[in-house]
Amino acid sequence: MRVTIFGSGYVGLVTGACLAEAGNDVLCVDNDTEKIALLERGELPIYEPGLDSIVERARKSARLSFTTDVAAGVAHGLFQFISVGTPQDEDGSADLQYVLEVARSIGEHLREYRVVVGKSTVPVGTADRVKAEIQAAIEKRGVSAEFDVVSNPEFLKEGAALDDFMKPDRIVIGANNPRAAKLLTELYDPFNRNHDRVIIMGVRSAELTKYAANAMLATKISFMNELANIAERLGADIENVRVGIGSDPRIGYDFIYPGCGYGGSCFPKDVQALAACSDAVDYHSELLKAVENVNNRQKQVLFNKIQTYFNERLKGKVIAVWGLAFKPETDDMRGAASRPLMEALWAAGGRVRAYDPVALSEARRIYGDNASLVLCETAEDALDGADALVIVTEWREFRSPDLDRMKKLLKSPVVFDGRNLYDPVLMNQHGFDYFGIGRGSSIVAPGETPTDGGEA
Ligand SMILES: NC(=O)c1ccc[n+]([C@@H]2O[C@H](COP(=O)([O-])OP(=O)(O)OC[C@H]3O[C@@H](n4cnc5c(N)ncnc54)[C@H](O)[C@@H]3O)[C@@H](O)[C@H]2O)c1
Repeated sequence: MRVTIFGSGYVGLVTGACLAEAGNDVLCVDNDTEKIALLERGELPIYEPGLDSIVERARKSARLSFTTDVAAGVAHGLFQFISVGTPQDEDGSADLQYVLEVARSIGEHLREYRVVVGKSTVPVGTADRVKAEIQAAIEKRGVSAEFDVVSNPEFLKEGAALDDFMKPDRIVIGANNPRAAKLLTELYDPFNRNHDRVIIMGVRSAELTKYAANAMLATKISFMNELANIAERLGADIENVRVGIGSDPRIGYDFIYPGCGYGGSCFPKDVQALAACSDAVDYHSELLKAVENVNNRQKQVLFNKIQTYFNERLKGKVIAVWGLAFKPETDDMRGAASRPLMEALWAAGGRVRAYDPVALSEARRIYGDNASLVLCETAEDALDGADALVIVTEWREFRSPDLDRMKKLLKSPVVFDGRNLYDPVLMNQHGFDYFGIGRGSSIVAPGETPTDGGEA
């Protein structure tokens, strides 16, 4: 089938590459000329495991191409996917300008039947606005043309995006017209062979399903972070509590890891956008606001621990930061916990030596020539001469470090672990002052032994 994708970011590019891999003829349109030039040269604007090889394969077989030409995009595909960004507006609601801009362009060029597929995460009612925008542009031309608008939210996770797209848990199709739903179901057939994953519902329900999924996941994280803070003050170890509650199948082990706050381009903005949607219909969600507030507070926890440890004297201190991306297996630093942490360290007069396996160039792009930031090529290099280590992203390569070497490289053996990667008892045995999240009374003066995790 012929498919056009508007927006060649994380979602658009993965969608385009996977649909091309399944044998479709895909044209990706983006208004970022640099991004399109890069893609045409065979380079990728993002890091996503496995994406390079499938893009390369699809390009070579001419099933995947790239353009900035909107008219060519509308002429190309029976399906017109909208996968552009929906960033947060000043009031927390979703900024729909890019989605509506694409809708308008589709209306300006539409000649024959098209299925317009909303893949961006959008407030309930957006498909109606997209439809109206397209219709208005068609009428302005004084022509008539047929189209349907369906909602097909994307649930992929950065870092595992290809697997999520190729073997989805569910394919949600929100359509008020069976013809469009049937066509889109056919397009997804290759990803649906093992068992039927298509869930068809009304457009508004599909739009809300996406927000509901992200809000539920964010709620689980904020709940665990809240519990971690309580555990820490009560002298309990949240890691034991986590295993204790996860064993209940009604709760489960997934997504209940305490940490230094959720980030990324989706959870923070989607929780706020859902709260804004809800406010707009006069229902003021206490829970969604609490989820966000708990998360914002959690992003301060590491800095507060560091500041307490150094008696609020961070001026001139060098802090090694392991992990800049908002989670492992991606170079995406949007909403990453590393950012408020480093910014707070700088504001307090500290300096940072940071390492991330893939996000260094993204950090360079964001922070440019910041004299207080040294980007290091290896994890060990970041430790060299630092007064403490902070772990922000749980990359696999941080899981089993050479503790003796770590101790030698650090100026003082102090570790603040925002992802609870290590055993506190082991760390203490190796002579480290070690502070995790929610692990007993973990704030101690230098030289004292923390009690966290001791009950294990
Ligand atoms: N990133 C994720 O993990 C993820 C997962 C599920 C859903 N989503 C949702 O998918 C949408 C896209 O997210 P993303 O992370 O891919 O965003 P992104 O910022 O990586 O990519 C968006 C792309 O759209 C392009 N664009 C903007 N206006 C355009 C226009 N008028 N015409 C053509 N291209 C245009 C931008 O240049 C950019 O390349 C968002 O609504 C997001 O919430 C994201």
